[in-house]
Amino acid sequence: MEEWTILVIENGTGFLKGGCAGDELPQFVLPNVIGRQKKTGMMIDLEKSKSCFICDQVASSNEILSLTYPLQNGIINNFEDLELIWEYIINSVWNIDPDDHPILMTLPTLNPTTKNTKIFEIMFETFNCRCLYLQNESVLSLYSNGYDTGILVDVGHFMSYVVPVLRFHPIRNGIKSLEIAGAQLTNYLSDLLLEKEISLEAEYLTEVKEKYGFVALDFDQEINTRKQNQSFTSSKLNKPIKLTNNESITLSNELFQMSEPLFKPSLLGVQKKGIPELIIESINSCEEEIQKEVSSKIVLTGGTSLLKGYQERIQKDLSSLFQKKMKLKVSALPERKFSTWIGGSILGSTAFFQNRWTTKDDYKKYGKSLTQKFAFY
Ligand SMILES: Nc1ncnc2c1ncn2[C@@H]1O[C@H](COP(=O)(O)OP(=O)(O)OP(=O)(O)O)[C@@H](O)[C@H]1O
Ligand SMILES: [Mg+2]
Repeated sequence: MEEWTILVIENGTGFLKGGCAGDELPQFVLPNVIGRQKKTGMMIDLEKSKSCFICDQVASSNEILSLTYPLQNGIINNFEDLELIWEYIINSVWNIDPDDHPILMTLPTLNPTTKNTKIFEIMFETFNCRCLYLQNESVLSLYSNGYDTGILVDVGHFMSYVVPVLRFHPIRNGIKSLEIAGAQLTNYLSDLLLEKEISLEAEYLTEVKEKYGFVALDFDQEINTRKQNQSFTSSKLNKPIKLTNNESITLSNELFQMSEPLFKPSLLGVQKKGIPELIIESINSCEEEIQKEVSSKIVLTGGTSLLKGYQERIQKDLSSLFQKKMKLKVSALPERKFSTWIGGSILGSTAFFQNRWTTKDDYKKYGKSLTQKFAFY
């Protein structure tokens, strides 16, 4: 990697993405997780010298390890683990000297500003980073769609957010969050399959969800139509699936039941409104004069937004729920799984951006008060 190449790191609750500014897609996507042995006596198959396993060193089905995710409920709550992950990326994945590369890092939407101080501390003191820029992930996601203002609807791995943004600034009191996203849907699919006495390992559950799962345009109607047609078109209702391990299963309603908690969180015992209602609440919480602008720029992002039928359902529910006489426009780019990272990649390669860095000298001069001086949003 050339000296001075700007590196972009996105810290997702489930997956960390990394690559070079100016590139179209990240170079790597790694699970943002640490695995530690549950009991020392059980480590027969694993390298004994290792006390912890980082990112891709943790196989998704590894029963021997207990897993910890440094981001919880969308907030960095374990800096020690995150530091281990960043170290792994810098030293093992990239093998670079952080003194040679400016780093642009994304901030989780709900992360309190006070926690940014710790990011500066780790990057400058532990990694001797030359310069650093932090930016809110929702702002970057929207920016990659060509907007500085709008409503960003991000359904990722552990968290979903609806974030109103005005001229690159999230409107804090309009942010809505829901603790249901890809991971919870995978677990729900697992429960639905167990009712049919089908038990799949985590990676095959994810495969089923991503390849065959979908969102019903109208849930009740989909169920009823299937009930009525059951006797004579059962081959159309039951989908035979061949997994990459060659196992064959036949699934039906589970394929759309599993995504319904995004619209009806109570299915998972979560007493919150579904994504379309949260979008409307978020629009309504904005000042009257900007509501028209944000409702015409509703952007869907995050890996889980790739579910088939998701955009159509959001559009349909919004048009039936939204009472105001304003034009609603919902858009979703094909590469929306990487919107945040792509936003960082574009921003990192613009000239506008060049004097926005916080340098090592700034850090030496201002120390812990840096987050105040360089509050980016
Ligand atoms: N084609 C697909 N269809 C459905 N879900 C998908 C698809 N591709 C990826 N996903 C799901 O998207 C999730 C990962 O999304 P993403 O990378 O946006 O999350 P994240 O940024 O780590 O999390 P968050 O945004 O919640 O902090 C996983 O649960 C994954 O299974
Ligand atoms: Mg994300």
